[in-house]
Amino acid sequence: MLIKVLGSAAGGGLPQWNCNGRNSADARKGVGGIVSRTQASVAVSADGRQWVLLNAAPDLRQQINATPELHPAPDGGPRNSPIKAVVLTNGEVDAIAGLLCLREGQPLTVYGTARVLDVLASNSVFDVLDPRMVRRKAVIYGEPFAVEGPSGAVGIEIEAFPVLGKVPLYLEDGKAGVGLGTQEGDTTGLKVTDTASGRHFFYVPGCAKVDEALRARLKGAPLLFFDGTLYTNDEMIAQGLVNKTGERIGHIIMSGEKGSVAQLKPLNIARKVFIHINNSNPVLREGSPERNAVESAGWEVGYDAMEVKV
Ligand code: MLT
Ligand code: MN
Repeated sequence: MLIKVLGSAAGGGLPQWNCNGRNSADARKGVGGIVSRTQASVAVSADGRQWVLLNAAPDLRQQINATPELHPAPDGGPRNSPIKAVVLTNGEVDAIAGLLCLREGQPLTVYGTARVLDVLASNSVFDVLDPRMVRRKAVIYGEPFAVEGPSGAVGIEIEAFPVLGKVPLYLEDGKAGVGLGTQEGDTTGLKVTDTASGRHFFYVPGCAKVDEALRARLKGAPLLFFDGTLYTNDEMIAQGLVNKTGERIGHIIMSGEKGSVAQLKPLNIARKVFIHINNSNPVLREGSPERNAVESAGWEVGYDAMEVKV
């Protein structure tokens, strides 16, 4: 199975359009060691011809253009695409807005929890993906399914599972102390398996906290892409960007004893890659103490166009 990281940043990307924080400013200037990133998404293929997207970022058009594997086949007729399906892990803008780039009458299948499909159903702009050609299928936790494109199974099996998270920003009910309205189905992790080889990896781009269920699931995993939004809880506040902590936005931090580096350390995960990295995160800067700390702890910092074979 081939995995291509289309985008590795959190919502907003790096640089973010209106951000003058040090990472965005330096990425914009082309300062060495801080590489621009588009918003998080991964493409997966069992056969190198049919591809499944894990989330559809607002940067999807740019990501497709930068990825030859996702271009139409030259001998495939006037309209064709190797993108056969999209699996959504949440309803945030950075996970779903790219669906709008997949209009123009191309058949494919969109998978998501009932909660996420509700978001699509209640926003009629998504009907631009002609419902006669773009099927929407509900994923149910604990029921693995073979991903199907317009002409059948593509050789990838997915199991979706609940992860502690948060309702999308634009659906917050504002009632502090009630988990910001989070319900089951808001934040999902994926186990992605190559049907033929049985090889698999985990995709968890959003996670508020590592709980016992997640720990049990990830134990001994061969490969994990994991929420790398923030390094410290208050870094967005300290940099004068947004007046919210990591806890408030439903993302675990990397550092500290409750952080992802420490929490996932005992699980013997063979390869660990951070993805969905916010533009405030100091690990984005090569050679920074924070970057060195996560790398010495065995983590890789994901980047756009990163390729992994499993
Ligand atoms: C999140 O996952 O919290 C998002 O990246 C927020 C956003 O899209 O702005
Ligand atoms: Mn996000």
